[in-house]
Amino acid sequence: MTLPLNDQAIAILKGNDRGSYTVPTKGLYPYQWNWDSAFAALGFAEIDLNRAWVELETLFSGQWANGMVPHIIFHEVDDGYFPGPGVWGTEGVSGNDLPSSGISQPPLVATFARKIFEKDPAEGIKRVGPLYDKIVAWHKWFMECRGESGAICVTHPWESGRDNAADWDEAMANVDVSGVGEYQRRDTSHVNPEMRPTKRDYDVYLAILYYARAHKWDEKAILEGGPFRVADPTLSFILLRAHRDLVWLGDQLGKDTSVIKGWIASLERGIETLWNPAIESYDAKDLNTGKFSGNVTSAAFLCWYAGLTDDRVLSHLKRLLDAAPHGVTSLDPENPDYNPKRYWRGPVWVVVNTLIGMGLDEAGHKAFAERLHSDSARLIEQGGFAEYFNPEDGTPAGGGTFTWTAACWLAWVSKELGEG
Ligand code: SER
Repeated sequence: MTLPLNDQAIAILKGNDRGSYTVPTKGLYPYQWNWDSAFAALGFAEIDLNRAWVELETLFSGQWANGMVPHIIFHEVDDGYFPGPGVWGTEGVSGNDLPSSGISQPPLVATFARKIFEKDPAEGIKRVGPLYDKIVAWHKWFMECRGESGAICVTHPWESGRDNAADWDEAMANVDVSGVGEYQRRDTSHVNPEMRPTKRDYDVYLAILYYARAHKWDEKAILEGGPFRVADPTLSFILLRAHRDLVWLGDQLGKDTSVIKGWIASLERGIETLWNPAIESYDAKDLNTGKFSGNVTSAAFLCWYAGLTDDRVLSHLKRLLDAAPHGVTSLDPENPDYNPKRYWRGPVWVVVNTLIGMGLDEAGHKAFAERLHSDSARLIEQGGFAEYFNPEDGTPAGGGTFTWTAACWLAWVSKELGEG
């Protein structure tokens, strides 16, 4: 007998739970990933509030002395993943004994901590108290170490969470990979290689990593000579939203939030630099060349989640939703690089649907929010809790029994809109 979807989602969270943190899915991703963990907390908040707070507390146990919260924390070494802690080489430079990667990931924590707080404010006050200054330090690190253009940039495609998005293609083409040498990928032993980044993508991922490692992860050296620096709509929109929710959390704790309000104003201005009039969309911009990527991607539709009230990308959203029966595609299907199977170059992601849908719902675009909501429900009902899905036929893709898809089901997809 098949279990109801709620029970299946709960079983996935529990199956991926390693006690104080949750892996995205066993095999493919055997460690604690930053934005996956934020989703895990949101999912756990539906069944076990204490466990939700523990997830976030564990994530911050990996915070660096400079405020950065790494994108992977290697709690227990697992040979099934590459590149592991030995490749990153961050020991001795992070100011933290926990081995980790050297880059960050989209900061969902303040926003989801607020949602978890609202479920039980008395508990929320107790749990957010010790986390608050740590979250502020992380946001400050983003503003100071990734914010020089006004928008927020990534120094590695993995930092965006959208590893092989077309946004990075031109900037990646300029990266010298001649010194990378031999290595053995592990992801393609867990998942069909057609659904993963290419060999050339991995060469670039490693070349960028090796540059930073050779410079001991020194932010100044990465800013001045790093081979990859691209302003990213995903990070910019998610951080802007997180700043707003951090102000709210600060207000609950009676903190002075004027610095964060200043960040909000400057990031709102900075995000305007990501408007590409040639495609009439928010776009990634290579800070080493000043060029836009020229791609319409699902990242642009996070503008409502960020609290912006402009509707300039609504017509693109409608077009992408209409182009594939299971949209929103991660890349515009009219783009020559669109591929419905390959990770962030076409597939639809329930996590992205959830963030976009939350924003649309809050902005009053109810019909669009409802469409993302019902699309996401149908994908899960038909294909299970996969990492992502083919937008054309809805087939599940990437890793299976995925924490963040299960969490989105529990916290958003299975609920009435506006209830989340
Ligand atoms: N998503 C990356 C990977 O596939 C790392 O964050 O390993």
